[in-house]
Amino acid sequence: MKTAIVTGATSGIGQAVAELLIARSYRVIGTSRNSGAVVDPIPGVDYRDLDLTDSSSIRAFVDGIGDLEVDVLINNAGESQCGPLEELPIDAITRLFQLNVFGAVELTQAVLPGMRERRRGKIVNIGSMLASFPLAYRSSYAATKAAIKGFSTAARFELEPYGIDITTVEPGSIDTGLSARRTKYCGPHSPYLRDFTTVIAKLDAKEAEGITAETVATTVLRAVEDKKTLPIYAVGSNAPAVFLAQRLLPRTVLEKFTARAYGLPSKRPSN
Ligand SMILES: NC(=O)c1ccc[n+]([C@@H]2O[C@H](COP(=O)([O-])OP(=O)(O)OC[C@H]3O[C@@H](n4cnc5c(N)ncnc54)[C@H](OP(=O)(O)O)[C@@H]3O)[C@@H](O)[C@H]2O)c1
Repeated sequence: MKTAIVTGATSGIGQAVAELLIARSYRVIGTSRNSGAVVDPIPGVDYRDLDLTDSSSIRAFVDGIGDLEVDVLINNAGESQCGPLEELPIDAITRLFQLNVFGAVELTQAVLPGMRERRRGKIVNIGSMLASFPLAYRSSYAATKAAIKGFSTAARFELEPYGIDITTVEPGSIDTGLSARRTKYCGPHSPYLRDFTTVIAKLDAKEAEGITAETVATTVLRAVEDKKTLPIYAVGSNAPAVFLAQRLLPRTVLEKFTARAYGLPSKRPSN
């Protein structure tokens, strides 16, 4: 029986992935900040405590895995954040990088020695299409997702000779309720308030109309089971069309389309 770790397995994409892996007869270790109080537990999932913002929690989780042979690691747990770059508190940015990037990197480092010795393993990082198509007022979040993609795409070539595949799944807008949990930083008198409010309202509307977590989970499973693992799997938000547009259109044209789609002026105001 293969063993998979899914971080953030209590909600949204992580929960759907855990359910699919159980259905495929994996042994699934699912993480939560409070594994004793999982609201809707998936039968068969072994829930364990993990808070990726707390280094002692990461250490305890890794120690708990011990000599377990981990075949698959899904770095899914994450948080959303928005605000004008000027107003994002540096502590909040640091915390976001700890959760969305450094925690995932630390877990990856913990499972790699065993995978390398066994000459097999699969690591799937859940990124975001915002890394490929950055958006105003999402700079910190887009930066974390670009960072985790950077770790994946660069390390692919060092891990491949050892039979280990590492990849990134980039979801677009997904209806998981994540938008309600997004941390927002924009002061009531901020000069950015009007544009910020416009973008976030569009974003929330797109997420409410987004594809389901189950659809993303199917793509994650594809990434886990593909013999020839792709560097990136994009899903949702019309991914095939927008990635094609990215290849065909000049970057500045694409920027204008993105700005217009989110209600921002497509021309920068002149002084
Ligand atoms: N929803 C979207 O539109 C969307 C789009 C693109 C990418 N993504 C990415 O997809 C992933 C999952 O998103 P989702 O929408 O499914 O989110 P979600 O429903 O809010 O679930 C987040 C999961 O992360 C866990 N988590 C939160 N804070 C944590 C922490 N400090 N340490 C460890 N675990 C923590 C939560 O578990 P506990 O509360 O039990 O600890 C929960 O299971 C994230 O990386 C997100 O950035 C989402």
